[in-house]
Amino acid sequence: HEEFTKVKNIERIELGRFEMETWYYSPFPPEYRECKKLYFCEYDLHFFKQRHQMLRHLRKVKLLHPPGTEIYRNGNISMFEVDGRKGKSFCQNLCYLAKLFLDHKTLYYDVDLFLFYVMCECDERGAHVVGYFSKEKASEEGFNLACILTLPAYQRRGYGKFLISFSYELSKIEGKVGTPERPLSDLGLVSYRSHWTRVLLNILKASEGSISIKDLSDMTMFKTDDIISTLQHLNMIQYCKGQHVICAAPHVIEDHLRKCGSLGLEVDPTKIVWCPFD
Ligand code: COA
Ligand code: NA
Repeated sequence: HEEFTKVKNIERIELGRFEMETWYYSPFPPEYRECKKLYFCEYDLHFFKQRHQMLRHLRKVKLLHPPGTEIYRNGNISMFEVDGRKGKSFCQNLCYLAKLFLDHKTLYYDVDLFLFYVMCECDERGAHVVGYFSKEKASEEGFNLACILTLPAYQRRGYGKFLISFSYELSKIEGKVGTPERPLSDLGLVSYRSHWTRVLLNILKASEGSISIKDLSDMTMFKTDDIISTLQHLNMIQYCKGQHVICAAPHVIEDHLRKCGSLGLEVDPTKIVWCPFD
């Protein structure tokens, strides 16, 4: 790609009740590239150069939630699964929107090959998108997540950890180990590290006797490499005689648990109604 395409073009967006500053370049269609601000319909994510156009559009919108199946609801939080092939325009718009906050990922994929798990806060006006993750319908590399985003207006409330946790709950239902696509952004890595650390340490804390990396992987659907790197990062694993040995003294576990950040919004796995894609 040529260098000029990397310069941030759109500076601000309006979405629902929020105005947000953008972070990075996103490859919107040429006629939008000169705009400093774009107005998104918060339901179908169509975008406009002017607010009155968006408001006129909004009056005609009938579907007040993402165009897919609601696979989770707990309190005011819902998750919708949108097939990129069926909800093409919504998913493409979501990718344009997401790229404004993602530096390194090329998002010009064919959305057909992905499922989009869209997190919403619901109220009497409808379901308001707060974030999402995408997932390849069939990943040869065992990825259970391609892209993840919490919209800036909703960041730092534990929603990112909710999305990560949700991606592993889907992996548990599939009975397949999973890992996020690389590279991870800085914020992505901190969020994953925090999730992996908390989940693994809580298992180690509760378990009696010895537990292997394989056991941990079976219980969490975390890829063994991710388990090893997490424990290495905590200095809780040693490699001796061709084997990884976990060293988990209770006070060390407690210490790390205190430092690994907040739990985030919890997923209640009993509220997921979902079948793997086939
Ligand atoms: N500064 C420092 N740390 C931050 C941070 C910030 N602005 N925002 C998040 N974090 C870290 C914190 O450690 C936080 O845990 P804590 O609140 O317990 O300290 C942790 O990330 C996750 O917080 P959480 O509230 O669950 O996540 P989030 O809803 O803010 O979403 C991302 C996390 C990564 C999804 C979000 O930052 C995002 O969408 N970033 C842009 C897109 C991106 O980089 N995606 C990942 C690509 S691989
Ligand atoms: Na999990």
